[in-house]
Amino acid sequence: MRTQVAIVGGGPAGLMLGRLLERRGIESVILEAREREYVQQRVRAGVLEQATMDLMDEVGLGARMHREGLVHEGVELRFDGEGHRIPLKDLTGRAITIYGQQEVVKDLIEARLQSGLPLHFEVSDVVVDPAGTVTYTHEGESHTLEADLIAGCDGFHGVCRPAIADVLTVYEREYPFGWMGILAECAPASEELIYAHHERGFALASMRSHQITRMYLQCAPDAEPLPDEEIWDELDRRFGMSVNRGPIFEKGVTPMRSFVVEPMQHGKLFLAGDAAHIVPPTGAKGLNTAMADVALLASSFGDEGALAAYTQRALERVWRVQHFSWWMTSMLHRMSDDPFETQLQRSQLRYTVTSEAQATALAENYVGLPFITA
Ligand code: FAD
Ligand code: DHB
Repeated sequence: MRTQVAIVGGGPAGLMLGRLLERRGIESVILEAREREYVQQRVRAGVLEQATMDLMDEVGLGARMHREGLVHEGVELRFDGEGHRIPLKDLTGRAITIYGQQEVVKDLIEARLQSGLPLHFEVSDVVVDPAGTVTYTHEGESHTLEADLIAGCDGFHGVCRPAIADVLTVYEREYPFGWMGILAECAPASEELIYAHHERGFALASMRSHQITRMYLQCAPDAEPLPDEEIWDELDRRFGMSVNRGPIFEKGVTPMRSFVVEPMQHGKLFLAGDAAHIVPPTGAKGLNTAMADVALLASSFGDEGALAAYTQRALERVWRVQHFSWWMTSMLHRMSDDPFETQLQRSQLRYTVTSEAQATALAENYVGLPFITA
């Protein structure tokens, strides 16, 4: 079988790429390893940058996001027992929206199926040849797909990046901690997100709606989730206040790393999203950066010069995001037992909440720099 673009991976990057190509009249086939329910239930990111929202609008899928998403015009940094608001909107003219990644994924899957375009779940044995073929098994039959372009949107643990490992330079940093994340049925701790620096470790208060709280605690990278009561007690300690409590219905631990490969392309294979780069989640950038990549890739299709420049253009933005995510992570977490380092962090935090220039630098990166298109 032939198609113009073979998309490996039906996460946010692959699904959005399929939708952008559809709007440009370019055909594609999306191959996804897991079943639909699994992909739709996977709990991950929650913060959409303005540019990601604009992209959802551009592809005609913004209605539910505008109805159900929560627009936030500021975030709070909390340290030494006090909260300090960074007024994102006042400083940059832009805001962020809380709308779960799985809601974005549901909207994109629904639209793809309504258009009647190929999106195959539960494919296996996927083998990618950067010369332009993808072989896979679906419903017990093996298939070969020939394509003008293969989009490797299969996440950090996919098969596309390993297929071109020989030509890649890897830049990587692992952190000696992870995040323990919970979802609970109770009103959020505050109207806006709180990023808290505390001697016992970082904590983040977020939400999915006015009734659902999302919280994170810095923990050991291989920690087992704590019992519910211990999680709530630890959140209270790190935020320095009593947060609302309710039944916890989801718990998990995510390790943390920074990772980039260069180039992001070889032959007809182009990597996008987590397949090419990972950030620690402190800047809320993973999902948004995946969207930035596919906006660039979709606009480059059919233009040899633009495709040749894909890596260079994508990585320029990727490295800005890498720096911001590393900076937020190292400013807010307990990095070591070294008191010198702790004093530097506190100085950086004080400077960020008292200098308009520094607060603007945080705000500008947090609401997100513009997406680049060809
Ligand atoms: P993915 O979402 O990983 O999608 C890749 C898709 O490819 C998956 O559906 C997978 O099943 C499929 N796939 C894999 N292998 C194959 C194959 N061989 N063939 C076909 N399909 C395949 N970011 C934040 O900003 N904030 C957060 O709180 C946050 N939490 C996270 C928690 C976890 C546990 C993880 C893993 C990530 C988190 N992220 C977070 C990062 C963010 O969710 C990702 O950056 C985002 O999902 C990237 O989208 P993607 O489409 O590139 O990759
Ligand atoms: C959420 C996740 C993040 O990584 C972040 O920085 C802010 C919010 C969230 O899941 O709501």
